[in-house]
Amino acid sequence: MEFQPTSSFTFVLFGGTGDLSMRKILPGLYEAHRAGMLEASGKIVAVARHADDRDGYLQWVNEHVKAHVSTNGIDENAWSSFLERIEYVKLDLGKAEDFVKLRDAVQDLPGTRVFYLATGPSLFVPICRALASVGLNENARIVLEKPLGYDLRSSNAINDAVGEIFAEGQIYRIDHYLGKEPVQNLLALRFGNALFEPLWRREWVESIQITIAEELGVEARGDFYDNTGALRDMVQNHLLQLLSIVAMEPPHSMDSDSVRDEKLRVLRALKPIDPRDISKVAVRGQYHAGVIRGTSVPAYATEPGVKTDSATETFVALKVEIENWRWAGVPFFLRTGKRLADRVAEIVVNFRAVPHSALGSSALRPGANRLVIRLQPNETIRLYCLAKKPGEGMNLSSVHLDLAFDQFFKEGQMEAYQRLLLDVIHGRLALFVRRDEQEAAWKWVEPILNEWAASGKPKPYAAGTWGPAAASAMLAQHDTCWLEEEN
Ligand code: BG6
Repeated sequence: MEFQPTSSFTFVLFGGTGDLSMRKILPGLYEAHRAGMLEASGKIVAVARHADDRDGYLQWVNEHVKAHVSTNGIDENAWSSFLERIEYVKLDLGKAEDFVKLRDAVQDLPGTRVFYLATGPSLFVPICRALASVGLNENARIVLEKPLGYDLRSSNAINDAVGEIFAEGQIYRIDHYLGKEPVQNLLALRFGNALFEPLWRREWVESIQITIAEELGVEARGDFYDNTGALRDMVQNHLLQLLSIVAMEPPHSMDSDSVRDEKLRVLRALKPIDPRDISKVAVRGQYHAGVIRGTSVPAYATEPGVKTDSATETFVALKVEIENWRWAGVPFFLRTGKRLADRVAEIVVNFRAVPHSALGSSALRPGANRLVIRLQPNETIRLYCLAKKPGEGMNLSSVHLDLAFDQFFKEGQMEAYQRLLLDVIHGRLALFVRRDEQEAAWKWVEPILNEWAASGKPKPYAAGTWGPAAASAMLAQHDTCWLEEEN
């Protein structure tokens, strides 16, 4: 793997004993350390309330992080030198004197200073203010985890308050989908090859589907999820970010603002949703008990932390349009859900069929003129076309050209968090969400949020299926269907 080692850094991790730190942040930093990507003097300063001292914290880390280190298991030497980088500050967010303690602990540490807030969004502003009160906001970078707010108003309130303390160029808003290798590859596919560009527009594209389907339910996050729902958890951020990358104009360069300017143009061009049309262009569902891969799973409403009469959606399907010359009239179908039949994230570009078939009706069949970009699992790009079946007659059959990335590139993929953490230390903002992008995304989803909050309930679907039938009916109105329904 090619890489540029970081310069020295002090990485201060708020929420140091939390789930995200254990599952993603510390494993990501460990992988970077093991691969020699982190400068030797770089320090990690974990901040939390639960552990009493550094030994207690390291014990917690030993117990909770190792299981989440994915590639090649743990290299014990690398692990113990990784632990040497870690310092710990026990801090109570309500106590001003604890921030003085934090300042004393970090002020003489070298390099770029990063504050990573792996906490709930309600703590972002108090933490930023407390950092500023001891002068720690100067020359520092701040990383904010999603969800950033609950709606446009609350996200603006956070951004305004954080913006008084940190300049936009110091703020790194994480959307981990942007750190995924296959999403990077989407940029490479679109802007590294001249082949697709002439076809990537309304004249040749009939419709596009973007799916992020999960088999997992809400796990231990019932409480959080029940106040959030799939629209806020997945659509406002991950799905709209993917959509903007699929639909954006070629940027002038890969520098952070060129890419983000183009994504923003797409988000601002999304056709506003008229509340009266919501039932035609948006489907919400909630899973009931069902069976996934032979295992029975309970209904959402019986998950711990979830209200028994919950009206929170665990599934969303949307028809989205983009009002610009490239995409006018092309439907983009977005879909995400928990407890679906499979775990898959993919983008399906359906090109138009031939305008006249000299080869008979089989040349008009679906299953050709299609590009499928599988983001996870097993990253592949597949171009479906028609070929003649061997034999006497002119019978056509759907075939595909395949690019399986793990066969081409032997080196393992870098985890999204690892890449994004390195980007923060390097000061690369391109894969982080700018405030105006986030605002545009909230503005677009808000009529749906409001309408759903005001009336009705999600449609039920059995766990282990592809969601409510209404999601298929929505596509049927456009003479199309979800990819898996064709097989
Ligand atoms: C998170 C959501 O942002 O993304 C989770 O909060 C979801 O609910 C997760 O499970 C999916 O990410 P991935 O990388 O597993 O596809």
